Amino acid sequence: MRDDCTYVIFGATGNLARIKLIPALYQLDAKGLLSASTRIVATGRRDWDTTRLHAELEQWLSDKLAERLDSSVLERFKQRISYFRGDLVDDATWPALHDFLNSADLPRNIAYYMSIRPAEFSLVIASLGRVGLLKQDDGWRRVVIEKPFGYDLESARSLQQAITRHLDEEQIYRIDHYLGKGTVQNVLVFRFANTMLEPLWNRNYIEHIQITHSESLGVGTRAAYYDGSGAMRDMIQSHLLQLLTLVAMEPPAYMDAESLRDEKVKVLKSLRPIEPSAVDAHAYRAQYASGHIDGTDVPGYLQESGVPDGSTTETYAAMKLYVDNWRWRGVPIYLRTGKRMAERQSLISICFRHPPQQFFRGTSASQLKQNWVLLGIQPQDCMRMEMTVKQPGLDMRTRQTSLDASFRRGDETRIDAYEELLLDVIDGDRSLFLRYDEVEHAWRVVDPVIRHWADTPGPLTQYAAGTWGPEECRRLFEKPEQQWRHTLRPIDDSEKGSLC
Ligand code: BG6
Repeated sequence: MRDDCTYVIFGATGNLARIKLIPALYQLDAKGLLSASTRIVATGRRDWDTTRLHAELEQWLSDKLAERLDSSVLERFKQRISYFRGDLVDDATWPALHDFLNSADLPRNIAYYMSIRPAEFSLVIASLGRVGLLKQDDGWRRVVIEKPFGYDLESARSLQQAITRHLDEEQIYRIDHYLGKGTVQNVLVFRFANTMLEPLWNRNYIEHIQITHSESLGVGTRAAYYDGSGAMRDMIQSHLLQLLTLVAMEPPAYMDAESLRDEKVKVLKSLRPIEPSAVDAHAYRAQYASGHIDGTDVPGYLQESGVPDGSTTETYAAMKLYVDNWRWRGVPIYLRTGKRMAERQSLISICFRHPPQQFFRGTSASQLKQNWVLLGIQPQDCMRMEMTVKQPGLDMRTRQTSLDASFRRGDETRIDAYEELLLDVIDGDRSLFLRYDEVEHAWRVVDPVIRHWADTPGPLTQYAAGTWGPEECRRLFEKPEQQWRHTLRPIDDSEKGSLC
């Protein structure tokens, strides 16, 4: 039986709550996964009451779910959720919240979700601690902390110090929503439940690995946050390094949170540190200029509203990393992310070594292609193995074909990452949340790059919106024939050289 719980959302009128958290909680309710007594307290600064919140959330849910919105579930969901008005910087908010959570008929297990500005995390946790709202006398208290956890290594350490004055590590749920995505979790099953893959998953057979997250959207209304962050902090330090750990880790002894996280930390610790003098050889940054997306003209980053004149914040970042252990020594792992790129795509691409050519010498098949394993995270979540086969006909010609090992059948729906993670908090399962040492070691990886970039501000190379980023980024590749992979389709010869 699942615990009853009060979910308190700080920042409940903001973007994340509107587009992710409230719809995810609604979906959990619709699927019957919340206990009957579970309640949600939406807190915000706006001068709303519960009636106004209900009207707003009806709109949010119908924007997001359209015809999937069920009126009877909606009515039940509204009964679960109430509004608490409070300004986080006003001292009077906290005793009032204490009274609200204690007087109303609310479950005594409480999960606090920090959907607020990172600068406010420690203030809110200290305030909750001060009024006794983190004491676990009559039920558990858990705190979900959104990314970014810190702005660099030093600030992550200070944040950790500040919050552990009030919380034990078991109460802290540092969220990285990528770990809630279906294919991402499937990486472990794919690797560790298939005997035929494990023997190949190492430097003897794998030539290089690419992890790409590209978006066609720009910075939108988030310039205030994004301009102080940039692509390296926003995506690589968190989501992309997490993907890297899952691809590269050793099999954990068990699937429990600690064994899993121990193995992930080992990978992060084994990443070869980037010396300040080697930053340019290992990292690349750029910024989008105006261009076209889906036939529409879009502005460049510097013309977006809220972006300061002359900003040198990168909207595209790429990195070459090496895991210095027995399994991966010498195998480059390329990470890349960008806004306003040609397509929205998150893809892990594993490129295998060239087969020996001798056997085919003198035939039309002498230029053999490499095998790839492609783990598509979005928009398609799928797993494909790209192989070489003979073309029908008299000649010895080959072509690439793709074996599809996708785990979702047509009638099986996709579960949003936030649904999974919000439920894990109620269940006390921290496997898909980050332990502090993971965060710390991820900062250690990117810190030298961030510092070097801050010391050499720019101007940055520009790439036209709607493209795959600057050609010059190819300089990170170890070999001239390596190129960015951004399609799930088998690549044919006509595309060679035009992929960057
Ligand atoms: C967030 C970043 O963590 O992840 C955003 O702050 C980014 O900038 C987003 O757009 C991408 O998430 P998803 O789930 O849309 O791929």
